Amino acid sequence: MQEPQPTGTGTSTRAVHAGENRSKLAHAITEPIVQTATYTFANSAEIADHFEGRIQREEYGRYGNPTQRVAERKLAALEGAEDALLFSSGMAAITTTLFAMLAKGAHVVVTDDAYRRTRQFLHQVLRRYGVEVSTVPAGDYERMEEAVRQTTRLIFSESPTNPYNRILDLEKVAAIGRRHRVKTIIDSTFATPINQRPIEFGIDLVIHSATKYLGGHNDLLAGVVCGSSELIAGIRDLQGITGAVVDPFAAYLLIRGLKTLALRVERQNANASQIAEFLARHPKVDRVHYPGLPTHPEHEVAKRQMKGFGGVVSFEIRGDLAAASRVVDACRIPRIAPSLGGVESLIEQPALMSFYELTTEERLQIGIRDNLIRYSVGIEDADDLIADLAQALGQA
Ligand SMILES: Cc1ncc(COP(=O)(O)O)c(C=O)c1O
Repeated sequence: MQEPQPTGTGTSTRAVHAGENRSKLAHAITEPIVQTATYTFANSAEIADHFEGRIQREEYGRYGNPTQRVAERKLAALEGAEDALLFSSGMAAITTTLFAMLAKGAHVVVTDDAYRRTRQFLHQVLRRYGVEVSTVPAGDYERMEEAVRQTTRLIFSESPTNPYNRILDLEKVAAIGRRHRVKTIIDSTFATPINQRPIEFGIDLVIHSATKYLGGHNDLLAGVVCGSSELIAGIRDLQGITGAVVDPFAAYLLIRGLKTLALRVERQNANASQIAEFLARHPKVDRVHYPGLPTHPEHEVAKRQMKGFGGVVSFEIRGDLAAASRVVDACRIPRIAPSLGGVESLIEQPALMSFYELTTEERLQIGIRDNLIRYSVGIEDADDLIADLAQALGQA
């Protein structure tokens, strides 16, 4: 085992140094990309030493990779978790975690505003395997607690939620979980460990789509789950069977992206706050969903549990689907694309992206309004982004 890098206590120091080996291959300052599918054994005795736990080493690519381990240690240090496990995408992290923790007859409580694919996995896929799901409104803790049954194993939510930026009171969610011996999971993708660390509030597992802010450059797909060594070990065992592992090069890009996480997120927080304030004053904007605004229903909770309010601003145009499209199409800086969290600003209408195949009525049933725009604010200059939005809103 190599000597680990000292971590320091500040988040940015951790983002740069935590998890890394102090002395690296060929005295390089960067972690090597160990591009291998398998690992060789000198002889049969070494195989026995490995399986008996007398030596620490890798065995086969699906069970782990040294570049991946460094990224995992860095992420665990950032989240304040005992351990972290990387996956090939955020959805791989979510689906493998849920499969590992649930069995036929188990029950899950989930909040209504959440990433669409997560909802689909729970409601459509897991239901086929005999898992029952109750959906409760985000922010209604009485309904959340009432929904818990004898068979409930998990409470799953996001905070902030995608796309409406609802904020869950993490202490309340954790308390409900503890009272009923139910594990709690928060998808913290929108927040990043720079803005919020759910484990500090008693949440059991934290999940991220690392594709978003953690990678930060729109150039990799990955996911991570962080939590106690015991819970992560169970999920790791299942990943070794189901196989949604991260590629060593993606793990390298993630380590590289994480080094600037604190800087990027601080800038994105600042840019998004200015944009949210600008939009809130604009006559062509009906509603702005940003937890940093005092008008946000959970602004006080957000102030208490977050260090920054994130880089996603969702807003509703005074008008219909076409009016919102005119604004999106007229923007010259943000690119039209799904995803969020990267250095480049991205803009999209959820009704025309994630929910395209549904009718307006079907979308409304699950709360997605046609005039909604989701703006993932990048690290460009706020003045440029605001000037661009001002001219685009002129086209609504
Ligand atoms: C909140 C949230 N969780 C999970 C995911 C899934 O992540 P991935 O695209 O990396 O599978 C997304 C993707 O948009 C997301 O926004």
